[in-house]
Amino acid sequence: MKIVIINGSARKGNTLTAIQAFCKGLSREHSVEIIQADQLHIAPCKGCDHCQCIKGCVDQDDTNPTIDKIVAADFILFASPVYWWGISAQLKQVIDKCYSKGQLLKHKKAGVLVVGAASVDSIQYSLIFQQFDCIAAYLEWNLKFKEAFSAGDKDALSKAKESIEKLEELGKKLC
Ligand SMILES: Cc1cc2nc3c(=O)[nH]c(=O)nc-3n(C[C@H](O)[C@H](O)[C@H](O)COP(=O)(O)O)c2cc1C
Repeated sequence: MKIVIINGSARKGNTLTAIQAFCKGLSREHSVEIIQADQLHIAPCKGCDHCQCIKGCVDQDDTNPTIDKIVAADFILFASPVYWWGISAQLKQVIDKCYSKGQLLKHKKAGVLVVGAASVDSIQYSLIFQQFDCIAAYLEWNLKFKEAFSAGDKDALSKAKESIEKLEELGKKLC
């Protein structure tokens, strides 16, 4: 499969650790590209709706090349730190811009990884997962998994053996 991973964290911390552990488990038959959302120049969606008449977003920035990569993917992994009970603005920015080619994004496989400082029973993870459930229902995605991990300090997840094993297993099981 062509796998595109969107990393919603700007720091080399827990979200990246989660992504790396997931990738470690993946079969070498997949091709993987990690999109580092904070490195992109993407203007916020203006809601101008031009994209609904033309092929893509009017913004001459990284929007169209990024969304084209997502359109070409078979599996999309959304990975984000929890910021204020939700996903990071960097990841949301990319998701908002998916509106420009929404219909081409139908019937994908997808997964969600979120890392927050709070314990995994916090409501924040259900709020985030519900958002992805709605997106998946709208775009008729096969949402393979939604997983939450609790880690605050930058290196906390890398020290959590069970979580790392779980992430590798998620990669291994992906088909
Ligand atoms: C702006 C900001 C807001 C945050 N809000 C939350 C929050 O609402 N809930 C939570 O559990 N952790 C929150 N955190 C902590 C991060 O989610 C946590 O440290 C996470 O591991 C960061 O992931 P990273 O290392 O990949 O950047 C916040 C951190 C920042 C910087």
